Amino acid sequence: MVRGSLRNGEYPVTKTPQPRLATVADAEAINEIYNHYVRTSAATFQVEDETTEERIEELRTRPGNQPIIVLEADGEIVGWGALSPFRSRCAYRDTIELSVYVRHDCHRRGSGRVIVHDLIARARSLGYHTILAASCEESVASIALLHSLGFRETGRLREVGHKFGRRFDVIYLQLMLSAPLQEPKKTL
Ligand SMILES: CC(C)(COP(=O)(O)OP(=O)(O)OC[C@H]1O[C@@H](n2cnc3c(N)ncnc32)[C@H](O)[C@@H]1OP(=O)(O)O)[C@@H](O)C(=O)NCCC(=O)NCCS
Repeated sequence: MVRGSLRNGEYPVTKTPQPRLATVADAEAINEIYNHYVRTSAATFQVEDETTEERIEELRTRPGNQPIIVLEADGEIVGWGALSPFRSRCAYRDTIELSVYVRHDCHRRGSGRVIVHDLIARARSLGYHTILAASCEESVASIALLHSLGFRETGRLREVGHKFGRRFDVIYLQLMLSAPLQEPKKTL
């Protein structure tokens, strides 16, 4: 496998690969990255592999305002991310939840930052008011990455995850994207 420039630390500014929208052709690469964490880590609370069929279906049916993106470098997908609904109730419509996964053998090369940065820009241009991420307390890398891009911790749910015979807290991190609503004008 060719990693090329990825071996030498962060991407040079002029050569920084840009994420693109994922297609069904990316399903296997996305799952290869994701299922590593399903099996080995509490970064996701999913406990069984995502199948290719499930991922293809998701990619096919995903609405345009809930993008899944991939980051490619030297012809290989090294990471992916998504904007997904936080809750289904209509009043949550201005809120979106971010997720990001970088191939386990490609960490600390700047990919996570590029993907999250791109997701923030997409969320902003899609008109979302706030973007949040739910991180397992042990996902030190994810928490540090989100902090470095302006997210702040806004909540902790105690022991809501149960995986590998252990219970995990979930930390919510949040970034505000637009100004608060104006007070409604009083009608006399
Ligand atoms: C979190 C994750 C996406 C980071 O991806 P990455 O490509 O390694 O991150 P980057 O190289 O872009 O790092 C950007 C910054 O994040 C922080 N960071 C990343 N990894 C870190 C680590 N292991 N420890 C501390 N800080 C870390 C640093 O501030 C880093 O900047 P620096 O390298 O200039 O110090 C990656 O570790 C991953 O896929 N983890 C498993 C999945 C996961 O936890 N996803 C989040 C669930 S939504």
